[in-house]
Amino acid sequence: MTKKRVAVLISGRGSNLQALMDAQQDVYEIVLVVSNVPGVAGLERARAAGIEAIALDHKPYGKNREAFERDLDALLIERRIELVALAGFMRVLTPYFVRAWAGRLINIHPSLLPKHPGVNTHARALEAGDAEHGCTVHLVVEEVDAGEIIGQAQTPILPGDTPETLANRVLELEHALYPRCLANFARTLAA
Ligand code: GRF
Repeated sequence: MTKKRVAVLISGRGSNLQALMDAQQDVYEIVLVVSNVPGVAGLERARAAGIEAIALDHKPYGKNREAFERDLDALLIERRIELVALAGFMRVLTPYFVRAWAGRLINIHPSLLPKHPGVNTHARALEAGDAEHGCTVHLVVEEVDAGEIIGQAQTPILPGDTPETLANRVLELEHALYPRCLANFARTLAA
């Protein structure tokens, strides 16, 4: 089976990107990493692994999100990308981009969706008195954090947990869950 050509979109430290790079085997190959924020650690992680890493700064595009996405889309097409994985990519994507990549665009979110879409998920899980928390890999659709769920991993919320302790525990789960889901997803596309 030929490996699916994957691009990972990031905005920061890239620990999920690292997990995806470390785990890649026969089913997917990360050939491109794009960050909308220049100079972030995730770009260096990609370069250290010998993967092309490009900063596409969204700032010069101002409020024109679609113009940014058109350039991003052109780059992905040029590199013959088949599957896009968001990993800490902190830009909400417009319907233009989401439609262009529908069914080939996935994300990891640090909560047990449909609980706690959006930001500050760890604090919100604590405030809500949830018994458990975790992370979700899902297809990206136009509504934020609302696409079909591909996989989830859970952890109980313990007495004394803070947003930080919870974030650390969930991040470990993310690093195990995301490569597994990406590989499974790549396999279903190949079938
Ligand atoms: C992760 O918690 C991910 O779930 C969220 O943003 C964070 C990114 O962390 N979307 P990293 O850049 O992968 O280390």
